[in-house]
Amino acid sequence: MRIDILTLFPQMFQGVFDTGIFQRAVADKLVSVNLYNIRDYTHDKHRTVDDYPYGGGAGMVLKPEPIFEAVESIRPGPHPESGGPPVILMTPQGRLFSQKLAAEFARQERLILICGHYEGVDERIRQHLVTDEISIGDYVLSGGELAAMVVIDAVVRLLPGVLGSEASALDDSHVSGLLEYPQYTRPEVYRGWLVPQVLLSGNHAQIARWRREQAIIRTRERRPDLLAKANLSPGVNPLPESPLEPTTSAEEIEESNNH
Ligand code: ADE
Repeated sequence: MRIDILTLFPQMFQGVFDTGIFQRAVADKLVSVNLYNIRDYTHDKHRTVDDYPYGGGAGMVLKPEPIFEAVESIRPGPHPESGGPPVILMTPQGRLFSQKLAAEFARQERLILICGHYEGVDERIRQHLVTDEISIGDYVLSGGELAAMVVIDAVVRLLPGVLGSEASALDDSHVSGLLEYPQYTRPEVYRGWLVPQVLLSGNHAQIARWRREQAIIRTRERRPDLLAKANLSPGVNPLPESPLEPTTSAEEIEESNNH
């Protein structure tokens, strides 16, 4: 996948791209990222990217010319409507980003992300250049850069070969519509707090059942809105076929952890 980012602050991305999973994905040529400074597409001596809003009001608005020119120069191919890559504007006015959208974007060969700033962007950019507007939540950031990093991170980890084991992305919270079950690692007893017995049993069917139970309990407690929407039909989030063996309940774990 190729990701092109248009921003006024390319330096903000360096830490993300030079670290961890992302750095490895770039080294392994699973993804390439190109940063474009919107200011490089201006023609005046002051490299002006913004101007006062027509009609008055506070703040500045990003001008259309540098953003159109930047996108058109990096996208020599067709307009998205005729099969070109999606051009995504990061903005609090956009569609709410989700795991489902991350999976959709991960299927694209190429993404172009525009990071908005100041009071907004000239409306003609929305009308005639971008194909999608994405928000990462109902709050206002000072620019689209952090939002673009969130989107890129969620997308890149879904690309085949990026995570060590494909299964680890499938188990993630939100992938199944449920939050992920509790995880434990060694030691078996820490400060007197025990790892649930079932996880040490080696009985894979029982472990799967326990995890499923815990995922449902956790989702019910923390995000009842998700549980209401989750697809619990067999095969998607399979319910155990036989009655549940008595296993450690969330309450019991909580109990043990409180001692
Ligand atoms: N730019 C500013 N706030 C944003 C948000 N919540 N999501 C995406 N881009 C933004």
